[in-house]
Amino acid sequence: MTTSTSCDHRTPLSAAYYADGAECVTAPITLNERMAEDTYRLRFTAPTIAAAITPGQFVMLRLAGINDPLLGRALALYDVHRDASGAPLGVEVVYLVHGKLTTALASAQPGDQIDVWGPLGNGFGATEETPPSYDRLIQVAGGIGQTPFLALGKEALDAESYGPEDRKPIRASCVTLCYGVRRASLLAGEEDFRGAGIDLRVASDDGSVGHHGLVTELLTAALDESADESVLVACCGPEPMMEAVAEVCRGRAPLLVSLETPMACGFGACFSCVAKVVQPDGEWDYKRTCVEGPVFDAEKIVW
Ligand code: FES
Repeated sequence: MTTSTSCDHRTPLSAAYYADGAECVTAPITLNERMAEDTYRLRFTAPTIAAAITPGQFVMLRLAGINDPLLGRALALYDVHRDASGAPLGVEVVYLVHGKLTTALASAQPGDQIDVWGPLGNGFGATEETPPSYDRLIQVAGGIGQTPFLALGKEALDAESYGPEDRKPIRASCVTLCYGVRRASLLAGEEDFRGAGIDLRVASDDGSVGHHGLVTELLTAALDESADESVLVACCGPEPMMEAVAEVCRGRAPLLVSLETPMACGFGACFSCVAKVVQPDGEWDYKRTCVEGPVFDAEKIVW
């Protein structure tokens, strides 16, 4: 079996100081399949990253041995692939074909090599501000922002575990995914979400699938149904959509957002990924999404 190998630690991706726990490997692709229009599921063999990565974290990925484009692409965890015994073996990410790297990636075949650095970012998990247990987790996704919500939903339902044994996951008795797409052909992973026991509700801009309208309308309905329940909302997608979701949730339910700011380095060096985040003194400061996020309490984001 072909397995991943440590890659050249003189590359710009090798700055472990900025991302404790991340490693750089050259990994073989084992699956690269179309899920929807311009949307692909990529699986690669990287057992140590697969054992460490948690929902909401991401990897930086490049085609091995190719310097054009020079910069990698940040791709969130979709799921961990396991061997017959259940041991983590590979990582699955989902990408939208947009730009040079993902266009080249769409032609990659099983056996081709990629350079992967991860896991990166904070991911979703219980914290001092986010209790670990809820009646309902409502996930809200726009477009390719659905990617983090398969693993997060499975973990919340206690159907799967990710990362170190001592981390504190978010649990919920019920998980709903409100998923907005522009049209039916872009809907990706429907069977995965339903198969995981996630209550999937779809909205589309053109009415070609699900509710004809905004994903925030699905969220409002789900919150109305959950008036007497403890609810956490998690959101990922285009910034205007996340801002609208924050408006809907204000005063009704706590909201975690996974920001999709463009990233160049992924390990805190370039400041290309900053977001305005409110500090304990009430003033906002720029925070790097790659090392201090991408998951933030929406109340602290200056939109
Ligand atoms: Fe370079 Fe975040 S992507 S600092």
